[in-house]
Amino acid sequence: MLDPSRIMQRCGALSRHSELSGGLTRVYLSSEQAAANELVLGWMREAGMQAWLDAIGNVIGRYEGEQPGLPCLMLGSHLDTVRDAGKYDGMLGVVAAIECVHALHAAGKRLPFAIEVAGFADEEGVRFGSTLLGSRAVAGTFRRDSLDATDKNGITLAEAMHSYGLDPTRFGEAARPKGSVLAYVELHIEQGPVLEAEGLSVGVVTAINGATRYALEIEGLAGHAGTVPMPLRQDALAAAAECVLAVEARCGREPDLVGTVGKLETLPGAVNVIPGRVRFTLDLRSPSDTLREAAVADLLADMGRVCLRRKVVFRAQKMHDERVAVCAPWLMEQIGAAIAAEGISVRRLPSGAGHDGMAMIELCDIGMLFVRCAKGISHNPAEAITAIDAETGARVLLRFIENFQARKR
Ligand code: GLV
Ligand code: MN
Ligand code: MN
Repeated sequence: MLDPSRIMQRCGALSRHSELSGGLTRVYLSSEQAAANELVLGWMREAGMQAWLDAIGNVIGRYEGEQPGLPCLMLGSHLDTVRDAGKYDGMLGVVAAIECVHALHAAGKRLPFAIEVAGFADEEGVRFGSTLLGSRAVAGTFRRDSLDATDKNGITLAEAMHSYGLDPTRFGEAARPKGSVLAYVELHIEQGPVLEAEGLSVGVVTAINGATRYALEIEGLAGHAGTVPMPLRQDALAAAAECVLAVEARCGREPDLVGTVGKLETLPGAVNVIPGRVRFTLDLRSPSDTLREAAVADLLADMGRVCLRRKVVFRAQKMHDERVAVCAPWLMEQIGAAIAAEGISVRRLPSGAGHDGMAMIELCDIGMLFVRCAKGISHNPAEAITAIDAETGARVLLRFIENFQARKR
């Protein structure tokens, strides 16, 4: 039997492992993540799975099929969060998948395939700037140079893995051979308003929008706020302000393009000092790769021109670049059939947010099931779902699992 109150309680329990007191922030390879992992490993074992931490720090649980060693259907989501996050983005998908396995185990049911549940260690990319590190390692596309990425304290990913008890040279051991994973299917909150507006508790994802992220830096000249006349300034923040507005203007012209500057740091950062250096980020997304790539090129050129005119130096470093990840039609069919069998009309919709499926698609076909969230609010502590929707989502997922037919090769 599925227990929706356990799903809600477990999302609540995970949210208490946070570096932010009174809120939720849990980043890759942190002590809070280690504590959250321990909880998840325990729940996996209680649900009848073998469970372990893999070579990159993902939590993996495996429920064998009718015979040991069969290829698996992989479920799950991520266990890291953004800063001041909600408690369902990522966690719901892990907890709901464990709940489904719990139900199968309680019924003594084995399937003609194994089930694995992944609690991916880094989807949000908050700590090291690059993203999808956990799922990339599983998909076999983790790049060795990612180990040199640094966090805000200058700690490299390799050093952080060491302190966490992982050997950075062994990240390759997290990779799965092609054919060993039949499909990756993730349940996730919608993080948008469509399902709620249409009075639907769940929906089938058609594709995950492509995304590009840059770390940008403008170097001007710090100076005295009282003595340097306005025309003689090389104010890095004033230049950055123009760049931010260029993003808004460029993306505002295209209905299928969104752009965000979510982080901006002014140095030295004092009321009486002209900003000498500004570091900021750019995040651009679209359901069209062509549109996204054109906007990236235009914006970098625009920012370069702004900086040239203002006699400041502009630097851009690409941190993330993922093409649109299209969900497999055969998985959309099977997820849709499970929704229809619950008497819910089948709504297909794209995902504006990024997900581990973007990395997993290099290994196997992907599918996603969205669960309605309140007012579409996410990446915000106000993120909310109802226990009834969590139950519906888990019921659909369980039905999908029980009827899952691997694609004939
Ligand atoms: C991840 O949640 C993202 O879309 O940024
Ligand atoms: Mn997120
Ligand atoms: Mn997420």
